[in-house]
Amino acid sequence: MKRRVAILISGRGSNMAALLKAAAEADFPAEIAIVVSNRADAAGLAKARAAGAPTVVVESKPFGKDRAGFETALQAMLDTHGVELICLAGFMRLFTTEFVQRWYGKMLNIHPSLLPSFPGLDPHGQALRAGVKISGATVHFVIPETDAGPILMQGAVSVSDHDSADTLSERILEVEHRIYPDALRLLASGQVRLEGDVCKTIASAASGNFLISPVIDQAGG
Ligand code: GRF
Repeated sequence: MKRRVAILISGRGSNMAALLKAAAEADFPAEIAIVVSNRADAAGLAKARAAGAPTVVVESKPFGKDRAGFETALQAMLDTHGVELICLAGFMRLFTTEFVQRWYGKMLNIHPSLLPSFPGLDPHGQALRAGVKISGATVHFVIPETDAGPILMQGAVSVSDHDSADTLSERILEVEHRIYPDALRLLASGQVRLEGDVCKTIASAASGNFLISPVIDQAGG
């Protein structure tokens, strides 16, 4: 039986599109039961409809600071669609601790940095200002603390001296679209387990590849 997944979005929905594409494969262990947006104007909604995915808008704005009120409406929608797992994909609304605890181990988020580095706003700018030579993206389980929680999968890219936040974000986005479906596949097929703050993957093996940055031009040296 495929696991029933809700994707929660607030914006353009490119990660959502990557998840929908993967879930369209016959052997994918999850189906996208519903795409939920907390904004009626999210560009991702049109993409979801074009892909034939069921969508629903649960507006968060009318709830103002009443997070619990919004979550009650959201939870009702998740119940209606028999949702077992949640993927946050550019969902710009913080949850209460109660909601997060209710979904602990079943709710994933993706963040465009190699966590625990650069959580929060402007992770690409943070990476550039720190001068790191390698950055990337992280899929993690959601805990009450923002952009933290057991890490399920990461992907890395090199950072060049010529990068702007835009070019770096473009490169990292490609990695995001690759790792989010892979991470969901692992979770939905029961191949991960949580050991305290750490997520372990059954039958995982270390890659023999290195990513070194910058690459030195020997001829120029
Ligand atoms: C992505 O960079 C994701 O990592 C972050 O928000 C952005 C959402 O982009 N959490 P999209 O809506 O999936 O295109």
